[in-house]
Amino acid sequence: MYDDITKKTDRYIMGTYRRFKPVFVKAKGTKLYDDTGQEYTDFLSGIAVCNLGHNHPNVVDAIFKQIGNYMHLSNLFYMRPQADLAELLAQNSFADKVFFCNSGAEANEGAIKLARKYAKDNGAADRYEIITLIDSFHGRTFATISATGQEKVKKGFEPLLPGFKHVKLNDMDGLKAAVTNATCAVMIEPILGEGGVMEAAPEYMTNLRMFCDDNYLLLIFDEIQTGIGRTGKLFAYEHYGVEPDIMTLAKGIANGLPLGAVLAKERVAKAFVPGTHASTFGGNPYACSAGVAVMKTLLHEGVLAKCTDMGEYFRGELNKLKGKYGFINEVRGKGLLIGMELDFPCADIVTKCLDKGFIINCTMENVLRFLPSLLISKEEIDALVEVLEEIFNT
Ligand SMILES: Cc1ncc(COP(=O)(O)O)c(C=O)c1O
Repeated sequence: MYDDITKKTDRYIMGTYRRFKPVFVKAKGTKLYDDTGQEYTDFLSGIAVCNLGHNHPNVVDAIFKQIGNYMHLSNLFYMRPQADLAELLAQNSFADKVFFCNSGAEANEGAIKLARKYAKDNGAADRYEIITLIDSFHGRTFATISATGQEKVKKGFEPLLPGFKHVKLNDMDGLKAAVTNATCAVMIEPILGEGGVMEAAPEYMTNLRMFCDDNYLLLIFDEIQTGIGRTGKLFAYEHYGVEPDIMTLAKGIANGLPLGAVLAKERVAKAFVPGTHASTFGGNPYACSAGVAVMKTLLHEGVLAKCTDMGEYFRGELNKLKGKYGFINEVRGKGLLIGMELDFPCADIVTKCLDKGFIINCTMENVLRFLPSLLISKEEIDALVEVLEEIFNT
């Protein structure tokens, strides 16, 4: 019935994505439905976007209400949804100020520009270099593929933007050795999501913060995947007791509408004055109204505690599988950002899970990644673990 969708897609849309077979026509909560009526349980959430599940009523209501008022005005005017969301983000984080944009890559572009501008404004005009991690992922624009540590996203696009160096996660000596008089910032994901769910060690984060302070370097956390409740805290840095100077958000911030944000302390945010940075659609009012609903739901409806509990339970069940199957190297992650590293490529397992009605994902070739709604149930986790075991046994 929906053959025309796949045909038209393949005929008219550039081939940047490898797409799976099912054509989904409806989504609600943790479930997706394809054109044949088959139900799927979603352990991917649009790649860590629909953290509250699909079409959460609080979010849908907020969007419709805002569209009834206005859909777009431009950033030449004040808009209540932006103001309310910025207040909620600032009052619940390290930050004083927010810049709104539309995506993760755009947020990281903003953070990179802000770090360079801050250096220029503060007597360090020759500092522009930013150190990031090997295996990091920061987006697909030119600055962000240059910032990204993964080689595969850069290939074919050289020459890249100058000013980025990549070092190993959890290696303070390597990072110190990479810093020069030209360095202005360090940018890391507290947990590398696309990089295989690799976690920064607590002592590394503490030492990194101290090192940045001692050397006048800004510390930027890319929380595009780890933020907005995904790890059981509003932001992953809260697990470490270490605050950044700049943080980027996108993905889950509006539960499915395109929205990104750059958050910063006042002394840093000051570097952005009228004319230095902008975005036509950035902070779109109905995306921001969705963001307000997301933040209020996370803060007032016990979602973070649920995420922590279900994350622990899920990792416990996956670790039981690890006890039984020697090819499982490690189960890692925080909250409901979970990776299970196998000693063989796992794309095949993703397809087999899909055939059995479960949507999961694979990163770095051999890491199964699970990113369910923060409202996933124990029963749904049990059902997936049972299916994984069935697949492992065949
Ligand atoms: C940590 C991180 N940073 C940046 C991005 C890029 O975000 P977007 O695809 O919205 O540009 C992603 C996307 O996967 C990400 O996981």
